[in-house]
Amino acid sequence: MSAIEIIKFPDPILREKSRPVTDVDGLLQGIIDQMVETLYEVPGLGVAAPQVGKSLSLFVYDMTLKEGEKQKLTVLMNPEIVSREGEEIAEEGCLSIPDYWEKVKRSSRILVKGIDRHGKEIRIEAEGLHARLIQHEIDHLNGVLMLDHLSSLKRNILLRKIKKAKKTG
Ligand code: NI
Repeated sequence: MSAIEIIKFPDPILREKSRPVTDVDGLLQGIIDQMVETLYEVPGLGVAAPQVGKSLSLFVYDMTLKEGEKQKLTVLMNPEIVSREGEEIAEEGCLSIPDYWEKVKRSSRILVKGIDRHGKEIRIEAEGLHARLIQHEIDHLNGVLMLDHLSSLKRNILLRKIKKAKKTG
């Protein structure tokens, strides 16, 4: 088992709406293991299944990654935001849109429900960066990218930058 390369914008799979996970089987566990391995090799806090080419409602994250420790892995499948409160604007990045950070408005506190890797129902209360990360990953499962949250002016600047980078890189 090895890490998978992160799929970059504008690959169309990033725009697909993911299928809910229905079978918690060995095949799924293999995909999760690969995603976890990928998570710990990339410079990000979370990886959503579409970013590794699987159109499944599943993401993995670890908020402790910043300290370089692997101690708080969360696997969340079929997530649903039950409630949200407040709003905050902060800089965000995405592994599928490398080397780009921009301010995005998100709910400051959320309650999410879903299932863990064994199919057991879980609920997560999150705020601040944790809430932001979950909202970002759930967006990925719906085919939404952070650039969709930008003003058209900022989005156009970003799109031009990506085009330019492609030409020179
Ligand atoms: Ni992302």
